[in-house]
Amino acid sequence: MKGLILAGGSGTRLYPITIATSKQLLPVYDKPLVYYPLSTLLLANIRDILVISTPRDIEAYQKLLGDGSRLGVNFSYKVQDEPRGLADAFIVGEDFIGGDNSCLILGDNLFYGQNLTHTLKSAASRTDGATIFGYPVSDAREYGVVEFDKKYRALSLEEKPEHPKSKFAIPGLYFYDNNVVDIVKQIEPSARGELEITSVNSAYLEVQKLHVQLLGRGMTWLDTGSADGLLNAANFVEVTQSRQGFYISCLEEIAWRRGFIDDSQLEKLGHELKKTNYGKYLLSLLEESSLLLSENER
Ligand code: DAU
Repeated sequence: MKGLILAGGSGTRLYPITIATSKQLLPVYDKPLVYYPLSTLLLANIRDILVISTPRDIEAYQKLLGDGSRLGVNFSYKVQDEPRGLADAFIVGEDFIGGDNSCLILGDNLFYGQNLTHTLKSAASRTDGATIFGYPVSDAREYGVVEFDKKYRALSLEEKPEHPKSKFAIPGLYFYDNNVVDIVKQIEPSARGELEITSVNSAYLEVQKLHVQLLGRGMTWLDTGSADGLLNAANFVEVTQSRQGFYISCLEEIAWRRGFIDDSQLEKLGHELKKTNYGKYLLSLLEESSLLLSENER
Protein backbone atom coordinates (compact mmCIF):
# COMPACT_ATOMS: atom_id res chain seq x y z
CA MET A 1 0.00 0.00 0.00
CA LYS A 2 1.22 3.50 -0.90
CA GLY A 3 0.72 6.52 1.36
CA LEU A 4 0.04 10.07 0.21
CA ILE A 5 0.17 13.11 2.44
CA LEU A 6 -1.26 16.42 1.30
CA ALA A 7 0.80 19.24 2.72
CA GLY A 8 -0.09 21.99 0.30
CA GLY A 9 -3.06 24.29 0.04
CA SER A 10 -3.10 28.04 0.42
CA GLY A 11 -3.35 28.24 4.22
CA THR A 12 -5.36 31.46 3.97
CA ARG A 13 -7.45 30.60 7.03
CA LEU A 14 -4.28 30.99 9.10
CA TYR A 15 -3.04 34.30 7.69
CA PRO A 16 -0.83 36.10 8.65
CA ILE A 17 0.94 33.03 10.13
CA THR A 18 1.09 31.24 6.80
CA ILE A 19 1.83 34.14 4.45
CA ALA A 20 5.47 33.08 4.24
CA THR A 21 5.43 29.47 5.41
CA SER A 22 3.56 26.21 4.97
CA LYS A 23 0.82 25.48 7.47
CA GLN A 24 1.91 21.87 7.96
CA LEU A 25 5.39 22.98 9.05
CA LEU A 26 4.03 25.02 11.94
CA PRO A 27 4.77 23.65 15.41
CA VAL A 28 2.22 21.68 17.35
CA TYR A 29 3.92 21.87 20.75
CA ASP A 30 7.26 20.12 20.11
CA LYS A 31 7.00 18.84 16.53
CA PRO A 32 6.07 20.13 13.11
CA LEU A 33 2.40 19.57 12.35
CA VAL A 34 3.21 17.20 9.48
CA TYR A 35 4.77 14.68 11.91
CA TYR A 36 1.33 13.85 13.31
CA PRO A 37 -0.32 12.62 10.09
CA LEU A 38 2.96 11.01 9.02
CA SER A 39 2.97 9.00 12.23
CA THR A 40 -0.49 7.69 11.35
CA LEU A 41 0.83 6.34 8.04
CA LEU A 42 3.77 4.66 9.80
CA LEU A 43 1.40 3.12 12.36
CA ALA A 44 -0.56 1.68 9.43
CA ASN A 45 2.72 0.07 8.35
CA ILE A 46 2.89 2.20 5.22
CA ARG A 47 6.52 2.79 4.28
CA ASP A 48 6.27 4.24 0.77
CA ILE A 49 5.03 7.78 1.19
CA LEU A 50 4.53 10.63 -1.28
CA VAL A 51 4.66 14.11 0.23
CA ILE A 52 2.68 16.60 -1.87
CA SER A 53 3.15 20.32 -1.38
CA THR A 54 3.32 23.65 -3.17
CA PRO A 55 6.11 24.82 -5.50
CA ARG A 56 7.15 27.25 -2.74
CA ASP A 57 7.26 24.74 0.12
CA ILE A 58 8.29 21.38 -1.30
CA GLU A 59 11.99 22.02 -0.64
CA ALA A 60 11.33 22.70 3.03
CA TYR A 61 9.68 19.26 3.34
CA GLN A 62 12.63 17.64 1.61
CA LYS A 63 14.94 19.36 4.06
CA LEU A 64 12.85 18.30 7.06
CA LEU A 65 12.20 14.69 6.09
CA GLY A 66 14.89 13.70 3.57
CA ASP A 67 14.53 10.44 1.67
CA GLY A 68 13.22 8.63 4.76
CA SER A 69 16.16 6.21 5.05
CA ARG A 70 17.01 7.44 8.55
CA LEU A 71 13.55 6.11 9.57
CA GLY A 72 13.70 3.01 7.40
CA VAL A 73 11.00 4.32 5.04
CA ASN A 74 10.87 5.95 1.58
CA PHE A 75 9.73 9.52 1.15
CA SER A 76 9.09 10.84 -2.37
CA TYR A 77 8.02 14.36 -3.23
CA LYS A 78 5.72 15.90 -5.81
CA VAL A 79 4.52 19.43 -6.40
CA GLN A 80 0.84 20.34 -6.67
CA ASP A 81 1.07 23.59 -8.63
CA GLU A 82 -2.42 24.81 -7.68
CA PRO A 83 -4.68 23.76 -4.77
CA ARG A 84 -7.14 21.95 -7.04
CA GLY A 85 -8.69 19.95 -4.21
CA LEU A 86 -7.93 16.92 -2.09
CA ALA A 87 -8.83 14.39 -4.76
CA ASP A 88 -6.19 15.94 -7.03
CA ALA A 89 -3.62 14.08 -4.87
CA PHE A 90 -4.43 10.96 -6.90
CA ILE A 91 -3.71 12.70 -10.18
CA VAL A 92 -0.49 14.22 -8.85
CA GLY A 93 0.39 10.82 -7.39
CA GLU A 94 -0.75 8.58 -10.26
CA ASP A 95 2.73 7.33 -11.23
CA PHE A 96 3.73 6.89 -7.60
CA ILE A 97 0.63 4.77 -6.89
CA GLY A 98 1.11 2.57 -9.96
CA GLY A 99 -0.94 -0.61 -9.53
CA ASP A 100 -1.17 -0.41 -5.73
CA ASN A 101 -3.86 0.49 -3.23
CA SER A 102 -3.37 3.78 -1.45
CA CYS A 103 -4.04 5.75 1.68
CA LEU A 104 -4.43 9.53 1.68
CA ILE A 105 -3.99 11.57 4.84
CA LEU A 106 -4.37 15.33 5.15
CA GLY A 107 -1.28 17.06 6.48
CA ASP A 108 -3.24 18.92 9.17
CA ASN A 109 -5.07 15.98 10.79
CA LEU A 110 -4.00 14.47 14.13
CA PHE A 111 -5.20 11.04 15.29
CA TYR A 112 -4.44 9.56 18.70
CA GLY A 113 -6.07 6.77 20.68
CA GLN A 114 -5.87 3.30 22.12
CA ASN A 115 -7.05 1.18 19.20
CA LEU A 116 -5.66 3.33 16.44
CA THR A 117 -3.06 0.83 15.22
CA HIS A 118 -5.61 -1.97 15.05
CA THR A 119 -8.12 0.27 13.26
CA LEU A 120 -5.51 1.35 10.71
CA LYS A 121 -4.27 -2.15 10.05
CA SER A 122 -7.75 -3.47 9.44
CA ALA A 123 -8.54 -0.62 7.04
CA ALA A 124 -5.26 -1.18 5.21
CA SER A 125 -5.93 -4.91 4.89
CA ARG A 126 -9.19 -4.40 2.98
CA THR A 127 -8.22 -4.82 -0.67
CA ASP A 128 -11.51 -3.93 -2.39
CA GLY A 129 -13.38 -0.61 -2.32
CA ALA A 130 -12.77 2.35 -0.02
CA THR A 131 -12.62 2.78 3.73
CA ILE A 132 -13.31 6.10 5.41
CA PHE A 133 -14.12 6.98 9.01
CA GLY A 134 -16.90 8.67 10.92
CA TYR A 135 -16.16 10.69 14.04
CA PRO A 136 -18.74 12.44 16.24
CA VAL A 137 -18.24 16.20 16.57
CA SER A 138 -20.40 18.84 18.20
CA ASP A 139 -20.53 20.93 15.01
CA ALA A 140 -20.12 19.03 11.74
CA ARG A 141 -20.71 21.96 9.38
CA GLU A 142 -17.00 22.44 8.61
CA TYR A 143 -16.45 18.87 7.45
CA GLY A 144 -17.50 16.11 5.13
CA VAL A 145 -20.50 14.51 6.87
CA VAL A 146 -21.84 10.95 6.65
CA GLU A 147 -25.50 10.09 7.21
CA PHE A 148 -26.36 6.58 8.45
CA ASP A 149 -29.41 4.37 8.60
CA LYS A 150 -30.38 2.67 11.89
CA LYS A 151 -27.83 -0.09 11.31
CA TYR A 152 -25.07 2.44 10.75
CA ARG A 153 -24.89 1.79 7.02
CA ALA A 154 -23.91 4.92 5.12
CA LEU A 155 -26.81 6.56 3.30
CA SER A 156 -25.31 9.80 2.01
CA LEU A 157 -22.24 12.00 2.14
CA GLU A 158 -22.16 15.78 2.03
CA GLU A 159 -19.29 18.28 2.00
CA LYS A 160 -19.63 21.10 4.54
CA PRO A 161 -23.43 21.01 4.72
CA GLU A 162 -25.20 23.98 6.28
CA HIS A 163 -27.59 21.57 7.99
CA PRO A 164 -25.67 18.34 8.70
CA LYS A 165 -27.78 15.16 8.60
CA SER A 166 -25.69 13.61 11.37
CA LYS A 167 -23.00 14.56 13.85
CA PHE A 168 -20.47 12.27 12.16
CA ALA A 169 -17.67 14.16 10.45
CA ILE A 170 -15.38 12.37 8.01
CA PRO A 171 -11.76 12.78 9.12
CA GLY A 172 -9.00 13.36 6.59
CA LEU A 173 -7.86 9.74 6.32
CA TYR A 174 -8.97 7.63 3.39
CA PHE A 175 -8.06 4.14 2.14
CA TYR A 176 -8.73 3.23 -1.50
CA ASP A 177 -8.31 0.38 -3.92
CA ASN A 178 -6.57 1.04 -7.22
CA ASN A 179 -9.76 2.27 -8.93
CA VAL A 180 -9.43 5.60 -7.17
CA VAL A 181 -7.25 7.15 -9.88
CA ASP A 182 -9.85 6.43 -12.60
CA ILE A 183 -12.68 7.62 -10.36
CA VAL A 184 -10.93 10.94 -9.69
CA LYS A 185 -10.49 11.48 -13.43
CA GLN A 186 -14.25 11.22 -13.85
CA ILE A 187 -15.45 13.57 -11.13
CA GLU A 188 -16.26 17.23 -11.82
CA PRO A 189 -14.95 20.15 -9.74
CA SER A 190 -17.43 21.42 -7.13
CA ALA A 191 -19.01 24.87 -6.98
CA ARG A 192 -15.87 26.10 -5.17
CA GLY A 193 -13.77 24.80 -8.07
CA GLU A 194 -12.14 21.87 -6.25
CA LEU A 195 -11.95 18.14 -6.89
CA GLU A 196 -13.68 17.10 -3.68
CA ILE A 197 -12.72 13.95 -1.80
CA THR A 198 -16.40 13.68 -0.87
CA SER A 199 -17.24 13.23 -4.58
CA VAL A 200 -14.77 10.33 -4.73
CA ASN A 201 -16.27 8.72 -1.63
CA SER A 202 -19.80 9.23 -3.00
CA ALA A 203 -18.76 7.38 -6.17
CA TYR A 204 -17.68 4.42 -4.03
CA LEU A 205 -20.93 4.66 -2.04
CA GLU A 206 -22.99 4.56 -5.23
CA VAL A 207 -21.52 1.19 -6.20
CA GLN A 208 -21.77 -0.04 -2.59
CA LYS A 209 -18.03 -0.20 -2.15
CA LEU A 210 -17.71 2.33 0.63
CA HIS A 211 -16.91 1.06 4.09
CA VAL A 212 -17.43 3.62 6.87
CA GLN A 213 -15.80 2.76 10.16
CA LEU A 214 -16.84 4.66 13.25
CA LEU A 215 -14.19 6.03 15.57
CA GLY A 216 -15.43 6.03 19.14
CA ARG A 217 -15.18 8.63 21.84
CA GLY A 218 -11.93 7.07 23.07
CA MET A 219 -10.21 8.29 19.92
CA THR A 220 -8.91 11.80 19.51
CA TRP A 221 -9.15 13.40 16.09
CA LEU A 222 -8.12 17.00 15.73
CA ASP A 223 -8.16 19.11 12.59
CA THR A 224 -5.74 21.99 12.95
CA GLY A 225 -7.12 24.24 10.24
CA SER A 226 -7.51 27.35 12.42
CA ALA A 227 -5.49 29.20 15.06
CA ASP A 228 -7.77 27.77 17.78
CA GLY A 229 -7.38 24.29 16.32
CA LEU A 230 -3.58 24.63 16.41
CA LEU A 231 -3.58 25.82 20.01
CA ASN A 232 -5.98 23.08 21.11
CA ALA A 233 -3.79 20.46 19.45
CA ALA A 234 -0.63 21.84 21.09
CA ASN A 235 -2.32 21.84 24.50
CA PHE A 236 -3.57 18.30 23.98
CA VAL A 237 -0.10 17.05 23.05
CA GLU A 238 1.60 18.83 25.94
CA VAL A 239 -0.92 17.64 28.55
CA THR A 240 -0.92 14.04 27.36
CA GLN A 241 2.83 13.75 26.94
CA SER A 242 3.73 15.28 30.27
CA ARG A 243 1.14 13.16 32.10
CA GLN A 244 2.10 9.81 30.54
CA GLY A 245 5.72 10.33 29.65
CA PHE A 246 5.02 8.91 26.17
CA TYR A 247 5.41 11.12 23.14
CA ILE A 248 2.60 11.49 20.64
CA SER A 249 3.56 10.93 17.00
CA CYS A 250 7.27 10.56 17.54
CA LEU A 251 8.30 9.24 14.11
CA GLU A 252 11.62 7.80 15.31
CA GLU A 253 9.92 5.87 18.12
CA ILE A 254 7.30 4.39 15.80
CA ALA A 255 9.94 3.43 13.22
CA TRP A 256 11.91 1.71 15.98
CA ARG A 257 8.92 -0.08 17.56
CA ARG A 258 7.81 -1.25 14.11
CA GLY A 259 11.30 -2.62 13.41
CA PHE A 260 11.97 -0.21 10.52
CA ILE A 261 15.18 0.85 12.34
CA ASP A 262 17.31 -0.91 14.93
CA ASP A 263 18.63 0.16 18.33
CA SER A 264 21.85 1.62 16.98
CA GLN A 265 20.00 3.82 14.48
CA LEU A 266 17.64 5.05 17.21
CA GLU A 267 20.65 5.84 19.37
CA LYS A 268 22.22 7.79 16.51
CA LEU A 269 19.03 9.80 15.96
CA GLY A 270 18.76 10.46 19.70
CA HIS A 271 22.33 11.73 19.86
CA GLU A 272 21.74 14.13 16.98
CA LEU A 273 19.00 15.81 19.05
CA LYS A 274 20.41 15.19 22.50
CA LYS A 275 20.25 18.85 23.52
CA THR A 276 16.46 18.67 23.38
CA ASN A 277 13.88 16.80 25.41
CA TYR A 278 12.91 15.12 22.15
CA GLY A 279 16.41 13.66 21.73
CA LYS A 280 16.56 12.65 25.39
CA TYR A 281 13.22 10.87 24.96
CA LEU A 282 14.59 8.87 22.01
CA LEU A 283 17.59 7.80 24.05
CA SER A 284 15.39 6.89 27.02
CA LEU A 285 13.46 4.44 24.86
CA LEU A 286 16.51 2.23 24.72
CA GLU A 287 16.34 1.64 28.44
CA GLU A 288 14.96 -1.65 29.61
CA SER A 289 11.60 -0.55 31.01
CA SER A 290 10.61 0.99 27.70
CA LEU A 291 11.61 -2.15 25.87
CA LEU A 292 9.31 -4.22 28.07
CA LEU A 293 6.47 -1.84 27.38
CA SER A 294 7.06 -1.96 23.65
CA GLU A 295 6.68 -5.74 23.74
CA ASN A 296 3.32 -5.38 25.49
CA GLU A 297 2.15 -2.83 23.00
CA ARG A 298 2.83 -4.86 19.90
O1 DAU B 1 -10.15 17.55 8.04
C1 DAU B 1 -11.17 16.77 7.50
C2 DAU B 1 -11.88 17.50 6.38
O2 DAU B 1 -10.88 17.83 5.39
C3 DAU B 1 -12.97 16.61 5.74
O3 DAU B 1 -14.00 16.36 6.66
C4 DAU B 1 -13.54 17.25 4.50
O4 DAU B 1 -14.44 16.38 3.87
C5 DAU B 1 -12.41 17.59 3.53
O5 DAU B 1 -12.90 18.29 2.38
C6 DAU B 1 -11.35 18.46 4.20
O6 DAU B 1 -11.94 19.73 4.51
P1 DAU B 1 -11.04 21.00 4.80
O7 DAU B 1 -11.86 22.21 4.60
O8 DAU B 1 -10.37 20.84 6.12
O9 DAU B 1 -9.95 20.93 3.66
P2 DAU B 1 -8.81 21.96 3.36
O10 DAU B 1 -9.15 22.70 2.13
O11 DAU B 1 -8.47 22.73 4.59
O12 DAU B 1 -7.58 21.04 3.04
C7 DAU B 1 -7.10 20.06 3.95
C8 DAU B 1 -5.58 19.97 3.86
O13 DAU B 1 -5.14 19.63 2.56
C9 DAU B 1 -4.89 21.26 4.20
O14 DAU B 1 -3.82 20.95 5.07
C10 DAU B 1 -4.38 21.82 2.91
C11 DAU B 1 -4.23 20.61 2.05
N1 DAU B 1 -4.57 20.83 0.64
C12 DAU B 1 -5.83 21.28 0.35
C13 DAU B 1 -6.22 21.46 -0.95
C14 DAU B 1 -7.61 21.94 -1.29
C15 DAU B 1 -3.68 20.56 -0.33
O15 DAU B 1 -2.53 20.15 -0.05
N2 DAU B 1 -4.04 20.73 -1.63
C16 DAU B 1 -5.31 21.18 -1.98
O16 DAU B 1 -5.57 21.28 -3.20
